[in-house]
Formats: sequence, C-alpha cells, structure tokens
Amino acid sequence: EFVPVFQNEPFSDFSLEEVREQMEAALEDISNYMGEEYPVVINGRIQEPHEMLLSRNPSNSSQIVGRVASATPDQAEEAIDAARRAFKEWSGIEAKYRSEYLELIANEMRDRRFELAAWMVYECGKPWVEADADVAEAIDFCNYYAEQMRFLGEPRHRDVPGEENSYYYRARGVVVVISPWNFPLAILTGMTVAALVSGNTVIMKPAEQSSVIAAKLMEIFSNAGIPSGVVNYLPGNGEDIGPVLVNSPDVDMVTFTGSRPVGLEINRSASDTDQRQHSVRKIIAEMGGKNAIIVDADADLDEAVQGVVQSAFSYAGQKCSACSRVIVMEDVYDQFLERLVEAAGSLVVGAAEHPATTVGPVIDKAALDRINEYIELAYEEGDVVLATDVSELEGEGYYVGPHIIENVASESRLAQEEIFGPVLVVFKVQKLNEAFEIANNTDYALTGGMYSRSPKNLQQARLKMICGNLYLNRGITGALVDRQPFGGFRMSGIGTKAGGPDYLHQFLIPINVTENT
Ligand code: SER
Repeated sequence: EFVPVFQNEPFSDFSLEEVREQMEAALEDISNYMGEEYPVVINGRIQEPHEMLLSRNPSNSSQIVGRVASATPDQAEEAIDAARRAFKEWSGIEAKYRSEYLELIANEMRDRRFELAAWMVYECGKPWVEADADVAEAIDFCNYYAEQMRFLGEPRHRDVPGEENSYYYRARGVVVVISPWNFPLAILTGMTVAALVSGNTVIMKPAEQSSVIAAKLMEIFSNAGIPSGVVNYLPGNGEDIGPVLVNSPDVDMVTFTGSRPVGLEINRSASDTDQRQHSVRKIIAEMGGKNAIIVDADADLDEAVQGVVQSAFSYAGQKCSACSRVIVMEDVYDQFLERLVEAAGSLVVGAAEHPATTVGPVIDKAALDRINEYIELAYEEGDVVLATDVSELEGEGYYVGPHIIENVASESRLAQEEIFGPVLVVFKVQKLNEAFEIANNTDYALTGGMYSRSPKNLQQARLKMICGNLYLNRGITGALVDRQPFGGFRMSGIGTKAGGPDYLHQFLIPINVTENT
C-alpha cells in the first residue's frame, strides 16, 4: 500500500549566488512600492478608508512600508455579515475542491516566494533566512491541510445488516483569525486556510505591525478565485475592532496566536453567551513560552552553543518557541558560558535587508522599550555577562543586541516572564534533576530541549520535561509542518498542534447519521 509522505517546501539556499541575486532583486523591486495604501476588503469589495495606520520598517523606522486602513467597528460587523452570508455555499462545496484552492494558493506563493519574503524583511525586520522559511511554512500549511482535508472529507461507514451508519464532518461557521506579526505570513496563512479548507468562512484580523503582508495574502486568495465574502480582510486596531469580532453572536470560532493576556481575554469572553448566539464559541489561543534548553555535562558543546545561540537570538528572540533559559551542568558551565558569550557577541546585529544580518531589529518602539526595561531589571536581578552595544545603529531602527544574564533566581521576573527579545538567562546546576525542576518551573509548556550524549539522560528528558515540543540535541525553534507538529499547553495555549493531524478537527463538527434499512 502506498502511504503518501508529506514533502516540506525546501528553503532557499542563499549560499548560491543566483539565489542571493533573486532575493536582492526582490528587495530592490519592492522598495519601489513602499507607502502604498491597503484598504479593508469585505465581501470582495474595497472599502473607503476612514483612517490609516502606518506600517513602518523596523530596521529603519522612518520608512513607511504601507498605509493600511484601520477598520471601524461597523466594518467589523459588516465583515461578519459577509462571512455569514458566504458560509452556506462555501461549506457546501465538496472538501476535495476546497483542497484544490489551497494548492492554487501554495503555487502562487511559490511563484512569488522572494517577493513575499522581501515584504516581510521590510515590514517585520525578518532576516532573509527567516523570511524565506516563513514563506516555505505558509506553503506547507496549504499543502498539508489540503491533504488532510481530502482524507477527512470522506465519510466513514459502519454498516451492519439492517442499519447504515455514516460519520462525517461539517464546518463550524464564521471564524475570526487574529494573527501575530512574528510569523506574519506562515501563521496567518495556517490559521486561515485551516478554517477555509474545512468549510468555514473567515475574517482575517492581522497584527497592526504586519498588515501589508496580510494584504498580499488577501490578494493571493482572490487570485486563486476564493469567492467573495469567504475571506474578508479587516486590518485595524485590536482595541477598536477586537471586542466586536470576539463578542459577536454571529462568530462561531476565534483562532488566535499572540500574547497571553489577549488570549486569556478572548477565552474569557467566549464564556459569555449572548441570547442571540446560536453556538458556543470555540476558541483556539496559542500563547507564549519561557522555553529552556538543558546542557548536560557530556554534551557536544560546539553543537550546544550553536543550538542555543540560534534558538535564543535568531529573529532577535521574537518567537514563542525561542530559548530564553539555558540550564547548564556545573562541570561544563564555565566552558560553555565562555563560548556562548563569544558566539552570541559576534552575531551581526543590523538591518534585516542586509544578507549578513542574523539579529535584526525588534518589531516596534513599544517592544524596544519593554525589552530594555527587562535589561535594566537584569542588572538588579542577576549579573549581565553579555551586553551587546548597538549605539552605532541608534536612531535608525528598533535595535537591541543579544544579552546574557547569570546568577538569576529561578523565581525572578527575568526567569519567569516572556520577554520576546534577545535576552537569555543562564542557570548553573549540580544535578540533572535540578535542571528538570528549573526547566519546568514556569507557567508555560511550549518548547524545550536538551543536549546530551547519554541515552539514559535523554530518556529522562523525554519523561520529565514538560513541554509540547521537545528537541534533543538540536535547536528548539523552526518546527516543520507534519514533521514537528507545533504547539504547547499550560499557559502556552489552548488548541492542538498546528501542522499536525489533529489541527483541522478543531474547525469541524462531527456528525453521525444512522438509517434503519
Ligand atoms: N513554529 C515556530 C517555531 O517552531 C514558532 O511559531 O519556531
């Protein structure tokens, strides 16, 4: 029997000159389209803007990447109405045809991959490699959920003499997708196409900081021929339109990825049932992490240093999967720390447009201020062993270099709160059990890792580390669709893993029909 194996979209190889040239050409080309306007799109129609939000380049904050319409609460209501009206027809289409739409979307993304990556470089300060991976992941989500839905679209039969039983799925209804800026294409695409392929209609509310790339996705949906009203593009201020979207009696599901306070608020609001409401709102909320890597006494230190540096500082630590705590066995502590500091200190901090940059800017001024407050706190709560100076870059963008802190209590704010920046706390421990205790001493349970050569200790990690994605002898970011279905539990989220076999079930309602024959 042939079992199809999912093929992940390959990453671009920027070590090849012709590939670098393609990316450079895309960046150059896109630079001619800075500052354009992006209107709200409801029911396939462009809406006259009332107010515009400016989306800035975090690497160079005076550059306006786009002027994006700020949707009003009335427009939020209209978008919900449009999605509701489009639902009947869309949900009635056979699943396999909806899967075909996703494959068309994936194909267009593949054709435009450098252009899409370039938009993320400018709008979100994503270094090349990260922006490229973001497009690849978006393509994977389309192809993977298309494949999954083909399978789920076939009813299951359990017939016995005199009785026919079929078990199948129907869509939930109107889904509001609220997406983050850090995986501006991949996560928005993943949540949206999962809703679409399972027959739901969608209102996309992208993060304010990444609304231009979201507009590009909207354009791709319409090029693929997704009917009007099936997806609506509703950029704007979360404070203005968020409450309308998440409290509407006509919204059946909210799927959110972002901060813990917002995720918990959305979850709370779902428990208030309006009298006009015809279903209990379903919530997916993917939230933060405070992820740890343990370095065992016999670990390959070259690999451990590289894995920790990458996991903690790539994209300036702005990933929910990022490593923010490293727990090192006493025997190798000094050696490891010295090498870690050296490696992290030599990372190139700078504009995301430059191919050599590994640590780009952080997303905006508010993020910069917040991270800098944590760095000030670091001097009170511990000893700062690496403080990268970025004063040369000042005034251009929102830069903060890698910071490493030791001698911090495991209960301190620095060790407990998600910083979402290039700030790493290092612990020294004498026993492995102590390492597991510190690793698990957090509200979150998203990613985790261990470097060790001992099969016994790796097995202990499997049994004891509390996290949704555990990585042994490698970095803890960059989960691939299908190979590493991604997501956590505890305060890291409600929902099942993105890019995994259970994900689409959340968007579907199982039905059983029995006929007495
Ligand atoms: N899926 C991403 C990663 O694994 C985080 O959202 O890094």
